[in-house]
Amino acid sequence: MSEHISEHIIVCSNTSHMLKGEKVLRKEGIPVRLIPTPKKYGQLCTTSIVIPTELKSSAESILRKEKVKYIGIYKLEPLRVDNLLLNDNNVKEDFANIIRKIESGQDLTLKEVERLLAAENPAEVEVLLSAGDRMRKKAVGDVVEIRGIVEFSNYCRKNCNYCGLRKANNSLKRYRMTPREIVETAVEMRKFGISTVILQSGEDPWYTEEIMVGIIREIKRQTGMRITLSIGERPRWELEAFRKAGANNYLLKIESANRKIFELAHPDDDYDVRVRNIKDLKELGYLTGSGSIVGLPGQRPEHLAEDIMFLKEMGIGMVGIGPFIPARNTPFENMPPGDLLMSLKMVAVARLVLKNVFIPSTTAMATLSPDGQRRGLLSGANVIMVNFTPQNLKKSYEIYSNKAVITLKTAVELIKSTERKLPPYIKEKV
Ligand code: 5AD
Ligand code: SF4
Repeated sequence: MSEHISEHIIVCSNTSHMLKGEKVLRKEGIPVRLIPTPKKYGQLCTTSIVIPTELKSSAESILRKEKVKYIGIYKLEPLRVDNLLLNDNNVKEDFANIIRKIESGQDLTLKEVERLLAAENPAEVEVLLSAGDRMRKKAVGDVVEIRGIVEFSNYCRKNCNYCGLRKANNSLKRYRMTPREIVETAVEMRKFGISTVILQSGEDPWYTEEIMVGIIREIKRQTGMRITLSIGERPRWELEAFRKAGANNYLLKIESANRKIFELAHPDDDYDVRVRNIKDLKELGYLTGSGSIVGLPGQRPEHLAEDIMFLKEMGIGMVGIGPFIPARNTPFENMPPGDLLMSLKMVAVARLVLKNVFIPSTTAMATLSPDGQRRGLLSGANVIMVNFTPQNLKKSYEIYSNKAVITLKTAVELIKSTERKLPPYIKEKV
């Protein structure tokens, strides 16, 4: 992720060439990472491959040999955005200096990130959120990516203190979808043009390595979609098997990068194991997603700043940030919800620091406030996840109470109302 190392970006003619390119380069030992294609390199394929500059010519010959079609290989320039300060005289000088550092493409320190998140004066908040929006435009353009999610099991072997799916919650009606139902749901999404499916569940060992591999293969065979897994911690050999079977992306949140806060919320998790698992995902070549919950007990801006630095250090490519929402029948049920403004500041700062990444405006934002998701899109987010869980099961996937349901229709309307662009792959007759 570092801006000091020179990198080149390979822009392919379409998703299948990009995926093939990624695979063959990786096989030949070239360290690759995937990023949303910055606007200035074209928008034919929304994801592109980044390689170290010194391996450019070997990469080119591999791609030629394997007949991978690409539009071009360009030097990846650090992203710079001018005039982020909006000529506002009401921001303090120390805040203004940090924004100037961002304008000139420099990296921020932990303290500086913390200062941005601690902004409370309305002028500073406005500058920060609009800076996130302008960096978003520069880094990933105006398209809002649409992903389809299927929440295929609400069984969980763990007892995270904030989450309604926790094992000890016996008031929840539990369900599991069959592999066939899961594949059918993915096929259904594909009909609307959706090109990435997110398979999400609690940590449910019923779905063994073999069963998951079967589901992944079948979805790939029938739809060719990109596959994102969000099924919690798994041993490395299983992650490797899923990757070989065709899984492309994996979401595994750190929830809080601060060890104390993490431990307070996760009675049966080990911080180091979680970090190891995230590293495993990176090493196995997943486009790796992580992120945190805003408003966990004891959490302050300095802890959230740690989250941002963690995501940067780990080279996270998808950042899911959402406010804490109290869930019935959990130890945290009477805690106050997370703050929407702080969540929006986190989205903006994540965009300003990580730049070229996918950031969803999360369902938790939509649940907290009617305009939460819209404001997320206007503060740096560029993805919406649409819920395709079968109607009769949706209400049982109650990770927190009164969870909003995002349909394709609401997502399309939201994107249009913010004057952003629908993705080219979406078929508009919804
Ligand atoms: N509030 C907000 N987010 C939550 N999650 C789980 N419970 C809550 C809650 N009460 C999020 C976690 C988890 C994802 C499945 O849902 O970040 O990774
Ligand atoms: Fe299970 Fe994930 Fe909820 Fe924890 S956050 S209880 S692992 S579903």
